[in-house]
Amino acid sequence: MILFVSVVLLSRFALVYTGTYCYDSGNFTSSDDYGKNRDSLLSSLPSSVSSNGGFYATTLGTAPDTVYALSMCRGDVSPALCSSCISTATKEMTQSCPYNKAVFSWGIGDPPCYVRYSDQPIYGILQTHPTFIFYNSGNISMDRNELSNIWGNFSVSLALNASNGSSKLKFSTGQLTLPINKTIYGMSQCTPDLSPSACVSCLYEGIGNFSSCCSGHQGGVVYKPSCIFRTESYYFLYDNSSGPPPASPPINTRRTGGKGKVSAGVLAAVIAPTAIVLVLFLLGCIYLRRRTNHRHNSLEEETGYDFTTMESLQFDLATIQLATDNFSRDNLLGRGGFGEVYKARLANGSDIAVKRLSRSSMQGSQEFKNEVMLVAKLQHRNLVRLLGFCLEAGEKLLVYEYVPNKSLDYFLFDPEKRRLLDWPSRLQIILGTARGVLYLHEDSRLRIIHRDLKASNILLTAEMKPKISDFGMARIFGGDQTQANTARIVGTYGYMSPEYAMHGRFSGKSDVYSYGVLLLEIITGKRNNANFQEEGTDNLPSYAWKHWTNDTPFEIVDPILGDGYSPDEVLRCLHISLLCVQEDPADRPTMKDINIMLSSYTVKLPVPHEPAFFLRTRTQSIGSRNLESDRSSIPSSVNEASLTEVYPR
Ligand SMILES: *[C@@H]1O[C@H](CO)[C@@H](O)[C@H](O)[C@H]1NC(C)=O
Ligand SMILES: *[C@@H]1O[C@H](CO)[C@@H](O)[C@H](O)[C@H]1NC(C)=O
Ligand SMILES: *[C@@H]1O[C@H](CO)[C@@H](O)[C@H](O)[C@H]1NC(C)=O
Ligand SMILES: *[C@@H]1O[C@H](CO)[C@@H](O)[C@H](O)[C@H]1NC(C)=O
Ligand SMILES: *[C@@H]1O[C@H](CO)[C@@H](O)[C@H](O)[C@H]1NC(C)=O
Ligand SMILES: *[C@@H]1O[C@H](CO)[C@@H](O)[C@H](O)[C@H]1NC(C)=O
Ligand SMILES: *[C@@H]1O[C@H](CO)[C@@H](O)[C@H](O)[C@H]1NC(C)=O
Ligand SMILES: *[C@@H]1O[C@H](CO)[C@@H](O)[C@H](O)[C@H]1NC(C)=O
Repeated sequence: MILFVSVVLLSRFALVYTGTYCYDSGNFTSSDDYGKNRDSLLSSLPSSVSSNGGFYATTLGTAPDTVYALSMCRGDVSPALCSSCISTATKEMTQSCPYNKAVFSWGIGDPPCYVRYSDQPIYGILQTHPTFIFYNSGNISMDRNELSNIWGNFSVSLALNASNGSSKLKFSTGQLTLPINKTIYGMSQCTPDLSPSACVSCLYEGIGNFSSCCSGHQGGVVYKPSCIFRTESYYFLYDNSSGPPPASPPINTRRTGGKGKVSAGVLAAVIAPTAIVLVLFLLGCIYLRRRTNHRHNSLEEETGYDFTTMESLQFDLATIQLATDNFSRDNLLGRGGFGEVYKARLANGSDIAVKRLSRSSMQGSQEFKNEVMLVAKLQHRNLVRLLGFCLEAGEKLLVYEYVPNKSLDYFLFDPEKRRLLDWPSRLQIILGTARGVLYLHEDSRLRIIHRDLKASNILLTAEMKPKISDFGMARIFGGDQTQANTARIVGTYGYMSPEYAMHGRFSGKSDVYSYGVLLLEIITGKRNNANFQEEGTDNLPSYAWKHWTNDTPFEIVDPILGDGYSPDEVLRCLHISLLCVQEDPADRPTMKDINIMLSSYTVKLPVPHEPAFFLRTRTQSIGSRNLESDRSSIPSSVNEASLTEVYPR
């Protein structure tokens, strides 16, 4: 491993650090599409970053050639000003690391900026390695202990302000006057995709790194892939209208830690207007061992902060075995597409649900962890919360919050229990489910398509409020999340949109179809795969359609509701459900439209087209293919006809 560092002293400009780091995680070849995707993505960054307010996250291409990128301006630099930095940085990255799949640059040019890309998802994931530390060799003439105490409090406050502050860019600045009448200026910034807790944990680590090497020095900067921290004894920010800040940098020394190849240049410009000196340093590099999570724990205790890190999501197998009574049958709550679900009680008395994934997951353990980390960040009152995972001894387990009241199908299709679902609680389920799916589609960072929305995946709280389960499974299990043909078909016959069932094409509109079917089930109390032959129709949507067009809509309402429902509300829901199950995905409303339609009765609804029909022969052939393949992996009840996990052969 070689580290090249050059210090260039030029006139007039401020001190600028430049650098590019090539991760050693893999190379692509010139025949891969990865290079093409990377180049076109990088070329779009300068303008996208400035038009998006200084931060831009994007992906391009389909797996395995997907490129994920993050780019941002330093918080004190106007987006327009930093786009030139980004274009220089991206050029330098492709020159220094032409075939590396993952590269990180903390910015070239004046003003500074940040660019990072990878073949793995990086959005929202805390990444603290490698670390680059540059420090000012001048000392502050003050008592060491007193200084580090004051400086430490100042730094922690900067970190907290960046992570919890109002700045969209997770950026903070501050200044501190020392007892010796000297002022220290500081800034900290995280990539804005991080959660506050991840941000603060990155900055704390950086502050710790700086103080363990360079405490007492006049200033310095720490660069990590997820955050930047800097203090100086002079004002170095760009927010003064007078343009770039003045600089008074003495010679800097630097150290780095990490794995991979670094090609770094430090451009340092001094006020001395005429001198141009070129100095080249060849510096050794310090390998640094992986951090322990000790620091997190003590920080957590110190600050009371909620740290969502990989470590905090990890459960021991022994704990879970104990909590589930070694996966005893008595604790089995059910079987879903991806494995069995057990109820478990932790030693502290709280209940959790543990999903034991069937062993055929395509995902390696690192990807699995990354995806769990992402899905765990999806938090919405209508989603079942993913609390963590366990990956030990060949087991892949997902740990969820425990939702006490079983699932919607348990009530809806039971001749007695359905009485408990009066119309107001059914409407509450309809609305909550719509909000949860909307969050998955549009409001969450991940834009997840559920792909298996059905009554048994709607869990109910003690107050009969809905929580959607089993979302994000395609990610955790591995597979392509973009709207594309999928090699694997998840989903359950009857809820699946025709384009999905027949061609494996899915999009948000496939979930809309499933949602429409779910609405019909809630209104009618009939299962979508019940026998509708005696009604002279094929399935639930066409049964509903028949009564809609015959102007007898209330005949299909679940008789157990009696007249305890609002005709307007039922009609509205029925109308919306028919819009959802239309054959052409383009005709179906989006989840956003649906939420608007459900909340405002003044919105006029379009006239629905006749719903999609499966050709009966087609569905049966799909169904039987599925049942065969199902038997090998998961036991499945025949009348559920679950189509989960169909692999092409
Ligand atoms: C990538 O290529 C470099 C040199 O071209 C080589 O040293 C390195 O081992 C390669 N890394 C991987 C993970 O293949
Ligand atoms: C700063 O202090 C350290 C240790 O106290 C010393 O080794 C170093 O020479 C000092 N640097 C300057 C520029 O005074
Ligand atoms: C730093 O913070 C700690 C804990 O909040 C406090 O006890 C201490 O007095 C502070 N030190 C200074 C110099 O402000
Ligand atoms: C952020 O953290 C700081 C330091 O703990 C605290 O003073 C401040 O009130 C917090 N701000 C917000 C918006 O939570
Ligand atoms: C952090 O924010 C608080 C509240 O806005 C402010 O009082 C404090 O000075 C800030 N800390 C620093 C280091 O600027
Ligand atoms: C610091 O500055 C203040 C006013 O600017 C002055 O009163 C004080 O004496 C100074 N202290 C030192 C140690 O120079
Ligand atoms: C501008 O620069 C001066 C130092 O040159 C500094 O004291 C001041 O706080 C800066 N910031 C702003 C926003 O004016
Ligand atoms: C930074 O701090 C972390 C946690 O203490 C440590 O694991 C890591 O090696 C440090 N990195 C550097 C470059 O000092």
